[in-house]
Amino acid sequence: MTQFAFEKDPAELYANALSSRKSGPLNGTVRIPGDKSMSHRALMFGALAEGETMISGLLEGEDVYNTAAAMRAMGATITKGDDGLWRCFGVGLGNLVEPTEVLEMGNSGTSTRLLMGIVAGHPISACFTGDKSLIKRPMGRVITPLEEMGATFLSRAGGRPPFAMRGSNELKGITYKLPVASAQVKSAILLAGLNARGTTTVIEPHPTRNYTENMLRHFGIKLNVERNESGEDTISVNGGQTMLGCAVDVPCDPSSAAFPVVAALINEGSEIKLPRIGLNDRRIGLYTTLIEMGANISFENETTEAGERIATLVVKSTGPLKGIDVPADRVPSMIDEFPVLAMAAACAEGTTTMTGLAELRVKESDRLLMVAEGLKLCGVKLEMGDDWLTIHGTGKPPKGGATVETALDHRIAMSFLVLGTATQDPVAIDDASPIKTSFPNFIELMTELGADLDLPA
Ligand code: S3P
Repeated sequence: MTQFAFEKDPAELYANALSSRKSGPLNGTVRIPGDKSMSHRALMFGALAEGETMISGLLEGEDVYNTAAAMRAMGATITKGDDGLWRCFGVGLGNLVEPTEVLEMGNSGTSTRLLMGIVAGHPISACFTGDKSLIKRPMGRVITPLEEMGATFLSRAGGRPPFAMRGSNELKGITYKLPVASAQVKSAILLAGLNARGTTTVIEPHPTRNYTENMLRHFGIKLNVERNESGEDTISVNGGQTMLGCAVDVPCDPSSAAFPVVAALINEGSEIKLPRIGLNDRRIGLYTTLIEMGANISFENETTEAGERIATLVVKSTGPLKGIDVPADRVPSMIDEFPVLAMAAACAEGTTTMTGLAELRVKESDRLLMVAEGLKLCGVKLEMGDDWLTIHGTGKPPKGGATVETALDHRIAMSFLVLGTATQDPVAIDDASPIKTSFPNFIELMTELGADLDLPA
């Protein structure tokens, strides 16, 4: 990776509206920030464990900072050293202290839902709130099982934040079949189960990301995972175990990598390399889909670290992608990637259909609606239903020339900036600030690859 000098004022670019212009081929090797899901878990588990946890590669984004602040407010010591490593000095399972202030979760659903599970297993009260996006998001899906275990909640309608909760050190283990494919709900229940009496079991009809299970094992927790005849996973954990601090090396985030990958694919002649991308098999649905669409993506220097597959993504653009039908059972493995896939589909030749997308409506924004509205403004032909989207591509990037609303959603913001690197006319977004929640150097990194991002003219 070469040394790169960024000449614009990043603070100004992230503060407001931003626009992207036709950029030509993207080239180079860049390091994507750390995996968001793993970064949250590393800090939370480090704060809960006994002794020291040392974390390298942590995502230094706003969502993760909110997790760190919450764990500090409940008694853990979390520091960043001059060596760039983060260190957590944990309190030991069951020993979190009651936060004296409201826990401010900002934009982060993962912080909120996983912390609800952690607080549930402690005899403390906590109040949670967040930004205008988070307070619209349904927490009932986590409140229902945690109440069954013995925690109590007082929330706005539909379990929406702000809410107050009271945990207990006498929760009871439950068996709970997930009504939605959600790693956050699964994780919240398992984390509450760490401090519950007996065994807590989650039945997962559709496999979702398993970082909670993998990383808990790394911290010394024993879990039992079995797959039954119908393909459902049953994950069980016994309460009362000991968690021990350890070293965690966070790989680079495959969901963040998706933005430069799609930008490279829609700008002919591009060739980019993204080292150390985490390729957990429950996260790679987008890459499988892009390869089916004809993308030239290869995985080099493959290794396995702490049970996680890691590789360098090498992406070459050799011509337009082809539209395909994305199978609904692939949705959990690419749940965060549909906005950027839609941008690829808008430039592809032929029709792309995406089904089983109900969960997209309850993410940081109603992503199905925001994608459809934004693409229509950019001149793309499409149809949308309650949980599906069909995009008709012409084999050429659409016209662009629109300003798209991002509704505090980082992935909507980055997706449309990616599209604008290939459209005839620039694409602007009304607010670039949410990008910092998950990809704090997105503008610098995309510019280094050759994307033309700037304040709107
Ligand atoms: C996450 C799980 C997913 C994903 C989110 C991160 C996690 O949410 O969309 O960005 O870290 O567990 P759901 O569990 O709600 O699908």
